[in-house]
Amino acid sequence: ATPIKVGLAGFGNVGSGTYSILKRNHSLITQRAGAPITVKRVAVRNVDRVRKLVDEDVAVSSDWHDLVTDPEINVVVEAIGGIEPARSLILAAIDAGKHVVTANKALLAEHGNEIFKAAEEKGVNVALEAAVAGSIPIVKALREGLAANRVSSIAGIINGTCNFILSTMRDTGRSFDDVLAEAQRLGYAEADPTFDIEGIDSAHKLVLLSSIAFGVPVNMDKVHIEGISRLEAKDIKFAEELGYRIKLLGITKYTDYGIELRVHPALVPMRRLLANVEGAMNAVVVKGDAAESSLYYGKGAGSEPTGSAVVADLIDIARTADANVSERPKMPTTQHNPGAKDF
Ligand code: NDP
Ligand code: HSE
Repeated sequence: ATPIKVGLAGFGNVGSGTYSILKRNHSLITQRAGAPITVKRVAVRNVDRVRKLVDEDVAVSSDWHDLVTDPEINVVVEAIGGIEPARSLILAAIDAGKHVVTANKALLAEHGNEIFKAAEEKGVNVALEAAVAGSIPIVKALREGLAANRVSSIAGIINGTCNFILSTMRDTGRSFDDVLAEAQRLGYAEADPTFDIEGIDSAHKLVLLSSIAFGVPVNMDKVHIEGISRLEAKDIKFAEELGYRIKLLGITKYTDYGIELRVHPALVPMRRLLANVEGAMNAVVVKGDAAESSLYYGKGAGSEPTGSAVVADLIDIARTADANVSERPKMPTTQHNPGAKDF
């Protein structure tokens, strides 16, 4: 195994959760990774705030370039969010031969093909477990546990903020805006919560899952997207009276006509498992030809649940950094699944 020196970009919900887990579980993680994983440097905008939160031997800088130029850093964790400077940081880290771990589904959904191609050419990893469904190891489930299967569909609740809003409104009668504000306080929502409530965040995650499951490049243009912002308390109440719960679902299917991708609110019968997923929990149902249906459930947002996925990727990199490049997981950057028609 390779000792990992992390350059951590961003110390908000995800960055701080990642740091806490690495510190609290240091010896356990070292044992599992086969080598120590330590944060060498953090880059943020507000250096004074973060200086007080990290150990003295961790350098804190206001310039993300410092993570890329530090020769000891072999993995950059991007937990800034948004497109720029996250994209430039990731491309520069790849160019410098560093592995990347990112939670940034918006960036990967929009610019993933460029990033994955650069990583492939340079022989480094871009690990993205944290970008989809928070703590749930769904990327690993698709790549490893279900590797024997032809997946036919993936469907689920993949936005914690919307599920928190829908279930809290139902349980308490509180207003949409009030519950959204609480989701923001709890660190579940995106910096721009429109991404959550308009279904865009779910669509970002869905295209990544679809890419992994069906071996096609990411393509946001083909997703039908409808969010929950126009739902009212009475819609939730009427659904309940009729024996349904309203859930924002992301669904992708492999069909004879191409790959279907859609995000929209759906009436789910109360007896179904997905109807009973509450709060910021996520749940994903995958159908494969051999395994049949399997369900993955867990906290879909929040500081340490997401940090858990980031650290799992760091452990993976420590274990496999010395392996032959071709043995490492890759994202499809070209249409290399001959059975999948273009969208
Ligand atoms: P936050 O807003 O809590 O944190 C963002 C961090 O990035 C802050 O520390 C901020 O610095 C830093 N930052 C912003 N701009 C720059 C810059 N130019 N240079 C250096 N640092 C910068 O966001 P989250 O942690 O919630 O989200 C981060 C990413 O993780 C996003 O891509 C999000 O989609 C994703 N994600 C979030 C989840 C969640 O539950 N919150 C779950 C899964 C993924 P400063 O502190 O100085 O302002
Ligand atoms: N805003 C996202 C959500 C964070 O609520 O699911 C996790 O990706």
